[in-house]
Amino acid sequence: PIRKIKKICCIGAGYVGGPTSAVMATKNPDVQVTVVDYNEDRIASWQTDDLPIYEPGLLNIVKLARDGTFNNRSPNLFFSTDVDTAIAEADLILLSVNTPTKSLGRGAGHASELCYLESAVRTIGSVATSDKIIVEKSTVPCKAAETLSDILAATSRPGVRFELLSNPEFLAEGTAIRDLLAPDRIIIGSLDTPRGMQAAQALADVYTAWVDPARIITINLYSSELAKLAANALLAQRISSVNALSAMCEALGADIDEVAHAVGLDRRIGPAMLKASVGFGGSCFRKDILSLAYIAESLHLFQVAEYWRSVVGINEYQKDRFTRRIVKCLYDSLRSKRLAVLGFAYKKDTADTRETSAITVVNNIIAEGASVRVYDPLVKKERVWDEVRAGSKQPELVEERLSVCGSAYEACADADAVIILTEWDEFSNKSVEDGRRHGTNEEKGQRCLDWGRVAGLMRKPMFVFDGRNVLDPQPLEAMGFRVESIGKGT
Ligand code: NAD
Ligand code: UGA
Repeated sequence: PIRKIKKICCIGAGYVGGPTSAVMATKNPDVQVTVVDYNEDRIASWQTDDLPIYEPGLLNIVKLARDGTFNNRSPNLFFSTDVDTAIAEADLILLSVNTPTKSLGRGAGHASELCYLESAVRTIGSVATSDKIIVEKSTVPCKAAETLSDILAATSRPGVRFELLSNPEFLAEGTAIRDLLAPDRIIIGSLDTPRGMQAAQALADVYTAWVDPARIITINLYSSELAKLAANALLAQRISSVNALSAMCEALGADIDEVAHAVGLDRRIGPAMLKASVGFGGSCFRKDILSLAYIAESLHLFQVAEYWRSVVGINEYQKDRFTRRIVKCLYDSLRSKRLAVLGFAYKKDTADTRETSAITVVNNIIAEGASVRVYDPLVKKERVWDEVRAGSKQPELVEERLSVCGSAYEACADADAVIILTEWDEFSNKSVEDGRRHGTNEEKGQRCLDWGRVAGLMRKPMFVFDGRNVLDPQPLEAMGFRVESIGKGT
């Protein structure tokens, strides 16, 4: 029989591996959790208080388990580059490595790249001298477990047994700790064999330390793999649906926020993920939908593939549509105009910029001839530069026309227009109703942008393009701003 889990090794110290391991360790003080990565800088920073990723509440959780500072507990969370030792000692191994879209060869631009997973699993095969439960935490194409089992069977020592499970992660960045502490559900997929089910139970026991067992669902291995891609595809589809409707609202004189509110009150639809925007970003939605579509295509389900790709298609359309609107409002030319971009992260409360819509919008307006000044409260300057350069077809224009500022006021000085691309609370002139913080701008204090001061800095006429609908246009219009929101017709 499979033993109770005493030691966990998590391969991949990124956005998923770090926070997930930290929560598991905090909630299971008797289990030793070691997070490994071959990226030395990342591991070194997990060992300090300057963590490699920003997530609200993460540092406290990490300190609790890593330093054992509170409640006299012994440290049980470790970060290391010694991948082999952590694998050799573990009963359970979480695979949390990246699975980006392939950039080379067959399926490039569509299929998921499994080389990092393959390499991790080859290491496990060659290093393991005792039985292991191996868990796919990374998002993988359906049937990846078969590939991984095949590699293990060919590379492992005789007599060492592996059980593969799928346990996809559903956390969203910016709310990772909240999501991990109170998950809607934990999905554990296993083979329908006695050992497969025992392994699923052993993993479930790790979660029951803090998750209600009723929320832990054990299902078939391949259903579990597909459920993860399906969840992301459905979430992204809601955003593309609402963004498609936003285009209609602008033409019809309707208001997308009112439409979304009205439909979201239907309990069958629900209010979440219906916020119209300049387009979704982040490392996963696009890649996971493309992966799902590629799988469909490889099964000769061409209409299915086309259906899912249209979700990404609408997202590209939304970003371009937003840029076109900026050009049109600014009298059909951005040449020699100066535009301030507020927000570069793909959503608030994260410094992550992977696939952020800002990359497209900033490059589009640079290509139209504008000079752009970007400010984001959390994203590092170099990161903005790297992303815009990497997304540009004319990098020399980027050098000439991009600057990255240390404050919103610096970005807005002499600007013809302000463009909001991330819904940071500090840009909003409304009270924040995200369930955690309520209050007016005055209560939130100085952190909030003083739009009166912005008005004093800008060239006239002053345009604001609100790509996140975080602004109440009326008070701004009273100050002389011309506010263009997503999905609001005039
Ligand atoms: P990430 O790039 O932040 O982290 C992955 C880490 O794995 C990197 O630090 C990399 O150095 C390391 N790595 C890769 N191969 C390795 C190997 N063989 N040995 C040791 N270390 C190795 O990625 P992420 O955002 O944490 O995503 C990881 C997976 O989780 C992806 O499949 C993603 O789709 C999925 N996912 C991500 C999120 C999210 O919010 N970011 C949410 C749910 C699921
Ligand atoms: C998403 C899913 O929400 C997670 O469940 C999943 O685990 C994760 O992908 C993943 O697999 O990586 P994440 O991308 O971190 O999480 O963040 P979301 O809150 O889903 O936002 C994604 C993008 O959509 C952001 O750019 C956000 O601004 C945008 N968005 C979100 C909207 O435009 N409208 C909305 O109503 C919600």
